[in-house]
Amino acid sequence: MTKTATVTATILLASGGAALLARAAQTARPTAAPRAGERHHPGAYDLRDNDPGAGGWHAPARWAKKKNPFPATAARVAAGKAIFTTNCVACHGPHGHGNGPAGAFLKPKPKDLASKQVQSKSDGTLFWKISHGNKPMPPFASKFSRRKRWELVDFIRALAKSK
Ligand code: HEC
Repeated sequence: MTKTATVTATILLASGGAALLARAAQTARPTAAPRAGERHHPGAYDLRDNDPGAGGWHAPARWAKKKNPFPATAARVAAGKAIFTTNCVACHGPHGHGNGPAGAFLKPKPKDLASKQVQSKSDGTLFWKISHGNKPMPPFASKFSRRKRWELVDFIRALAKSK
């Protein structure tokens, strides 16, 4: 490394610039085109999960079409419930009706996940919304693996059945 490069690198590191550069490099990444037989990397944070789509809170078409790649077994519903209890109940309420204690203060209010309005949405749409969030709903793409986010979808589907 030349002396100038070293000095520049040091300044960047000192100012936290490295992190900013890394983030700029990520955001600059173009949205990948749909690929046939797309591979899943459980646990990996994939920026395409966060594909902002056409704007607003509308899942991009390629996500809306996506089917849950895992079978909705009782074990997966139970796993989804456990994640839901610790991460979603505060806003969405224990049965997902949107009546959690924190939800009352939010604008917009959390949706009733058992409602027809939400249940009529595709698996992929729910998955994308959980991944992406929409203020005040936080994004969960970097927090939970794809597998876990699909478990949440399984649990949301079970909410409708138990209503
Ligand atoms: C801080 C409160 C908060 C938390 C925590 C939260 N949500 Fe939400 N959620 C919201 C709000 C508010 C909306 C409505 C947002 C909107 O309409 O723009 C929403 C909407 C949704 C929707 C979309 C419903 C629709 O209209 O299609 C789903 C699905 C969802 N939440 C699932 C979850 C799951 C699963 C978790 C936990 C992993 C979670 N949420 C955690 C507040 C929250």
